[in-house]
Amino acid sequence: MSRPHFKRRFLLLLIAATILALLLYLTRISEYWLKTIFTGRMGLPEFGQTLINVIEIALLMGLAVVFVRAIDEAVFRLSFRLRRRAEAPSLVRNIVSIIANVIIFVVIFKLFYPTVDLGAVFTTSAIFGVIIGLALQDTLGNLFAGLSLQADNPFQVGDVITVGQQKWTGVVEGISWRAVKVRTFSNHVLILSNSSIAKEAIEVCPKENLNARLVYFSTLYTDSPARTIHVVREAVREADNVSQMIRPNVRIRNLGESGVDYEVKYWLEDYAKYNDTDALVRQRIWYAFRRAGLSFAFPTRTLHVERKARGDGTPVDGSGFIERLSAVDIFAPLSVEEISRLANASMSHVFAPGETVIRAGDEGSSMFVVHNGRVQVQIMDNGKPRTVAVLNEGDFFGEMALFTGEPRTANVIASEETEVLEIGKQAMKQLFETNPDLVESLSHTIAERRTELKAQHENEETHEDATAGIFASIKRFFGIN
Ligand code: CMP
Repeated sequence: MSRPHFKRRFLLLLIAATILALLLYLTRISEYWLKTIFTGRMGLPEFGQTLINVIEIALLMGLAVVFVRAIDEAVFRLSFRLRRRAEAPSLVRNIVSIIANVIIFVVIFKLFYPTVDLGAVFTTSAIFGVIIGLALQDTLGNLFAGLSLQADNPFQVGDVITVGQQKWTGVVEGISWRAVKVRTFSNHVLILSNSSIAKEAIEVCPKENLNARLVYFSTLYTDSPARTIHVVREAVREADNVSQMIRPNVRIRNLGESGVDYEVKYWLEDYAKYNDTDALVRQRIWYAFRRAGLSFAFPTRTLHVERKARGDGTPVDGSGFIERLSAVDIFAPLSVEEISRLANASMSHVFAPGETVIRAGDEGSSMFVVHNGRVQVQIMDNGKPRTVAVLNEGDFFGEMALFTGEPRTANVIASEETEVLEIGKQAMKQLFETNPDLVESLSHTIAERRTELKAQHENEETHEDATAGIFASIKRFFGIN
């Protein structure tokens, strides 16, 4: 609740109190005149007095209600704000207000009619009891159910609950003396009466709890379970909103008709977003499968003769890649045959937007060429990622660790869906033997990038020093004289 809102309420209460006090004052000064009318002209002295009393009791009660409301606003809101809670439970506040109002009413009534026994009036009036009983049957049911909900505290505002046979699911927005307000994932507001909730089984996923979800998938029988489990676990643990506290758990559920059925259990940071996170997890599994050459099972008994296509981790046939590799500047001196050999030795991998292609600090035995899409080179700056370069189609990366044997210098993250060609150490070694110039041009690129990285890290090594050092270390690493 914002401050201006709070102040406006107080202003409204102040205006209401002023009007009521004014009316009370007017009644008081016109008391003599009203009495004269009823006594003199109508001959009903008793009625005149009673009417005045009723008006005064009503106005005093009005003032009392305003007073209780103001106290309620001040005490509850301030005290709960101090405890850093969004809002006090409305049910408790309503009940405290009702009790305060009843007590004040009894006091005011006693001031006017000290001899009347209010208890007797309420208890002996059978008709009154029946009317109240019938009229308030549902209301009282809800009130008491609400009270027990409040006492048990099975869920709180912000929790995700599933209730009833219809399996209503949504985020709890409020608990009042009559009903619980739930916002469904279609952004509809659902009002569930307290008495109906009290009768039903409720599934509660508390906001502060690490709640888990299950996502299912199946692979072909030819895919290794150990590899599948590893690939899926690594793909899922990096997805947004997947908790880093507990590692996702991938298990075989069943050896099914069309394939091996798995479930992946993961824990969410914000459970209210489970629909989006489930979808992201499935997406990550798809991309990881493609890169690892794993296949989803499909329910068919037809015999499929599948030619391994590019993208499944097996060597590519080169179509499209030859063109891409020959456009890479460092490969310009290579012959058509060498480029074609390089393309055949390359592996294609597809990464989802936001996925990590290279992680800083890892060991690296291959380099990559961006075939489609775009990647960002990032370093950590005070614990936050900072982009130092964006590499587009035809650019290469990962050469630094490959050629120097040092750990990866930066994180490389796919900015959009990106296909990269991975070139291994062996393929490069063959090229170096026939193209010594390649070592020099690579040394230049590495030196430039390293200088840039060092500048980012505020270091001072010169470009020439760096080139000479790298030139020697590439030769040493690959055993070239
Ligand atoms: P490597 O260290 O193997 O892994 C991270 C890669 O990021 C690195 O190789 C380079 O290919 C790339 N990289 C590092 N710094 C830069 C830079 N300044 N500009 C472009 N690419 C870079």
